[in-house]
Amino acid sequence: MASGQLSRDEALECSQCRHACHVMLYSNTASKLFGKIPIRHIVLMQMRFDGLLGFPGGFVDPSEETLEEGLTRELLEELGIAVPVSIEDHVESRFSTSPSASSSSNKLILHFYVKKMEEEQIREVEKAASSIASDHGLEVLGMVRVPLYTFESGGGLSCFLSHSFIGNARSQLIDSLLRLHLVSPKDIRRAIQSSQRMQEQTVQDLQVALELTEEQRKCL
Ligand code: APR
Ligand code: MG
Repeated sequence: MASGQLSRDEALECSQCRHACHVMLYSNTASKLFGKIPIRHIVLMQMRFDGLLGFPGGFVDPSEETLEEGLTRELLEELGIAVPVSIEDHVESRFSTSPSASSSSNKLILHFYVKKMEEEQIREVEKAASSIASDHGLEVLGMVRVPLYTFESGGGLSCFLSHSFIGNARSQLIDSLLRLHLVSPKDIRRAIQSSQRMQEQTVQDLQVALELTEEQRKCL
């Protein structure tokens, strides 16, 4: 097992640990972008309250509910629909390595799930998430679909990957796209490399923006 990873059962033996469960919901689709580019799959992520991209889900207390019941409860709050998630959808459990989690005395274990749905169900989730979900506009700023294509110009998946993600959500996304064959290894590599170049451009853009605010401050 990869470092930091543990089985679902091993993870549950740690009674002192905190647990958080998140899920990647996805479906196949025949839709075409601009009427000609096949989208092939819909993969859902969310813009979180902290401005980071992540998967729906949250903290679960295994002394009061199973991991999957807790995840479904979190999905009701964040998506407005209690999407049922089962043990069969479990992909991995691992210790969080984020600095905030390490500073707490109780270790945080992250459980990740992937669930395939019908396109119609995904559309219902998107609709409910922006209308009846109690967390909408608060802990969840909106659901987003992941663009799985990369244009010659570099737009698409590469741009999406250059955003900021919570914890290891970016690795969870890339790992899932590869494992489920939603994007080929060659296309993922190309997107990541293009994304790395974009990061350099972002650093430069932010420097220009900073200089602009300095100039405006002097004028006040
Ligand atoms: N990879 C690693 N860590 C993650 C990931 C991920 N993909 N997704 C979330 N986390 C971490 C978060 O940093 C957080 O510490 O898991 C923990 C719980 O996930 P949330 O979805 O943020 O929890 P939720 O129950 O929905 O929100 C409750 O927790 O983040 C705090 O104060 C915040 O109000 C929020 C509260
Ligand atoms: Mg959450």
